[in-house]
Amino acid sequence: MFEMKEKFKTGILLIDREHEKLFEIGERAYQLLKSPYDTDKYDKIVEVIEELKEYTIYHFKDEENYMESINYKRLFTQKMDHAAFIEKLEGINLNKVDENQDEAIMEILIFLNDWLINHILEKDLLIPRK
Ligand SMILES: [Fe+2]
Ligand SMILES: [Fe+2]
Repeated sequence: MFEMKEKFKTGILLIDREHEKLFEIGERAYQLLKSPYDTDKYDKIVEVIEELKEYTIYHFKDEENYMESINYKRLFTQKMDHAAFIEKLEGINLNKVDENQDEAIMEILIFLNDWLINHILEKDLLIPRK
């Protein structure tokens, strides 16, 4: 489901590599949803959410630094988008996750998929190479 395709490439090595990692984390969450014999996925879900949060913060920082270094005019819009994404991740209610685990992963996956694809295609692809 999550795969770094050619069309997502910005041509900026650092950014592409980090996006690839985000897709990898997404794919891991997807595999978690698909593992029917795993009856209690709570710990793994929390782990994947934490990793996603940590890595996203790391990636946004790098991306924003890069944009700053080239005086990119759309930096502000990017920052707003990035902040909204982190806020959404931080707003995940872990108690709710435990109540209905599969539904919770599903929701995160849909959100991540939409966001990654839309943000990368509509915003990150516009960032010029140095
Ligand atoms: Fe990005
Ligand atoms: Fe971005």
